[in-house]
Amino acid sequence: MFALAALALLQGSTSAAAEHRVTNIFRPLATPADAERNLALFVLAITAAIFVVVAALIVYTIVRFRRRAGDDTRQEPPQVYGSNQIEVAWTVIPILIVFVLIGVTARVIASVQNASPPPSTLKITLIGHQWWWEVRYPDFGVVTANEIHVPVSRVDGQPATYLRLESMDVIHSFWVPQLSGKMDLIPNRDNFLWIDPREPGIYLGNCAEYCGTQHANMLLRVIAQEPADFNRWASEQRKSAEDNPQLSEVKATFQSLSCVNCHMVKGTGAIGRFGPDLTHLMSRQTIGAGVLTNTSANLRAWVNDPQVAKPGCLMPSMKLTGDQLDQVVAYLQALK
Ligand code: CUA
Repeated sequence: MFALAALALLQGSTSAAAEHRVTNIFRPLATPADAERNLALFVLAITAAIFVVVAALIVYTIVRFRRRAGDDTRQEPPQVYGSNQIEVAWTVIPILIVFVLIGVTARVIASVQNASPPPSTLKITLIGHQWWWEVRYPDFGVVTANEIHVPVSRVDGQPATYLRLESMDVIHSFWVPQLSGKMDLIPNRDNFLWIDPREPGIYLGNCAEYCGTQHANMLLRVIAQEPADFNRWASEQRKSAEDNPQLSEVKATFQSLSCVNCHMVKGTGAIGRFGPDLTHLMSRQTIGAGVLTNTSANLRAWVNDPQVAKPGCLMPSMKLTGDQLDQVVAYLQALK
């Protein structure tokens, strides 16, 4: 009985950790997203009140002054010109409303932007590419793509992760609705953003600025983990491919192909930075910035011709023979 309960608890906790969260700004799980949800509700309430007043006046006017049987159509209704009271009312009230909206919005923006990260905060550099995300952990020497591992926040309202946002090409925008509002990634300009996810799990996000053909498939996942799990992940990611005994048998084909010009496999001759770092490819859940789940069949199809799953993406079909394809996939699958 006791064991059953413990098992149920354990299953509950593992399924919660793997849970895919929703992309809904009204279900925030971090401080910046809380502030923005409250602001959105406040603005919605004010605009809803305006809508109700305006709609009620229109309905009243339509009903009260509709044409009735016996109306003399040749006679105009009384024409009113120049009422100071009405002029003042419809000038002053909207100005007051606009000032309230500006004031509240500025306060929320300042509270999110001016939070300074404590020294212990995890720092990540997120670089937008057409059409994927490069994720760098400068303090750990870790580079990955599309899936951002971060620790959950244990102190409310303190940045658990501080993101520096850059772009390699065009303007992209980071948006994980349950964690924070949008922030652009702009070439030659650094933007900053912080997040403090309260619960472990997978937070889904998306590029939120049109950036070309595959903008819609520039997906993003933030994987919030307990600090111990995060540290374990980071120390695995820090390892170079030299430490990986499985690689030696299958590396020749990959190293001989032009894959190495665009992709990095740490500790090998593959030192490209144009495409995602592949050193620990198999630790990621998806391929092609979220278009495919990372299964062996999908990986094979992707390497064979990425243009099928993601037309227009910058990785060409390498026209590999069946043998080469087998060897490349075997190599990639050894990148744990
Ligand atoms: Cu990147 Cu849209």
